Amino acid sequence: MDTIIVTGGGPVRGQVSIAGAKNACLALMPAALLSEEPLILTNAPRLRDIETAKALLSSLGADVDMRDEGREITICAKGRIEHFADDNIMRRMRASNLVLGPLLARTGRAVVALPGGCAIGERPMEMHLDGLEKMGAKIERKDEYLHAEAPVGGLRAAVIELPFPSVGATENLLMAATLAKGTTVIENAAREPEVTDLAECLRQMGAHIEGEGSSRLRIEGVDRLRGAQHRVIFDRIELGTYMISPAIAGGEVECIGGHLGILASFAETLAQTGLTIEETSNSVLVRRDVERLKAVSVTTEPYPGFPTDLQAQMMTLLCTAQGQSVLQEDIFENRFMHALELNRMGAQVDLKGRTARITGVKQLTGASVKATDLRASVSLILAGLAAKGETRISDVYHVDRGYEQIVRKFRGIGANIERVKEE
Ligand code: EPZ
Repeated sequence: MDTIIVTGGGPVRGQVSIAGAKNACLALMPAALLSEEPLILTNAPRLRDIETAKALLSSLGADVDMRDEGREITICAKGRIEHFADDNIMRRMRASNLVLGPLLARTGRAVVALPGGCAIGERPMEMHLDGLEKMGAKIERKDEYLHAEAPVGGLRAAVIELPFPSVGATENLLMAATLAKGTTVIENAAREPEVTDLAECLRQMGAHIEGEGSSRLRIEGVDRLRGAQHRVIFDRIELGTYMISPAIAGGEVECIGGHLGILASFAETLAQTGLTIEETSNSVLVRRDVERLKAVSVTTEPYPGFPTDLQAQMMTLLCTAQGQSVLQEDIFENRFMHALELNRMGAQVDLKGRTARITGVKQLTGASVKATDLRASVSLILAGLAAKGETRISDVYHVDRGYEQIVRKFRGIGANIERVKEE
């Protein structure tokens, strides 16, 4: 397991380029299963999760070809597609469950391993399964597997009301509905930009979809989808992560290739702390002009609210802001593990269920801490930027899942950071 060592000190200064969105790409790749023609994705991020998605699709019989150092991915699911997804691969990543809808729509069958829960929560799939059953699928759980079968003649359109705007459930049902007979309506659909990006790609493939970005999706099924070329939207969570770095360490960072159009709630919250945020035609400039930022309170919500994937990074900022704040995590039931590690660095975070009460301190102190999940890992790197002395973050394999070349990018803005292999 590698360790990342950050030595706190001066402000961060410089430019960082924002990659394609992990959470868009992980939904776009399984969409290729819906067609016999190639789907070409450009601006793909180079991440471990994308490698996992490639392995999963290959195990199903698709040809997956990566070019331009992984920035361009061509997926061709021509001919026979297996309906059994390799469970060793399935268990590595929750997003593997996004092959369920496409496989059912394409082959009429799917056997997928129940994705393991993960550190941040149990993460069940009942909304995915209830929706597919409304479309006529028969789904049975046998041990750790889900055995799903479409009705003879294929999935049927349905009106599906999601109890919660689940991103994954919306994506699975949206993909399944593109080839279902009739017109499917998904009420209380997720409005995340990554869902919108998927809808736009499916439309380029010939799907008839209305309402992306709203809570009501309407999909008129077609007989087949064609290939397409689609540019993956930029990663708003990576953008938010680098925007917060000068807030914590001081200085000024220009994030190239992103815009605030899909990060408005987060940017507004950051501006309330006293951070200076400016947008150019192709970048976001963030500068801390004050000695200490003001504490603000935050509740995570489905889009367009404050993103749960930026909650850990925001907590790090609040740990050194002036005053008291309350951080409410309303999406996942166990997404505060980074708080315990931040407290080891001198932070004052008091947890009660899904509520964190934070009293800002002037400075954190470097310590040996442990990464527990993807976004927690980066919140500890951010804390190390401003802490006195050295912070050693172990188990950083989490970070490789979702952040492209993170050490190089932080070094590029002046951070004193290195990665060492631990025996
Ligand atoms: C997606 O996960 C993202 N992952 C997550 O990003 C993100 O945090 C999450 O959406 C919320 O925005 C990908 O897109 C690959 P949900 P997903 O279904 O689809 C519960 C990251 O760090 N739920 O919207 O799994 C669920 O347990 C990752 O990049 C049910 O109870 O999220 C959770 O508490 C982490 N039953 C809440 O809803 C269901 O059937 C939100 O889940 C489905 C979900």
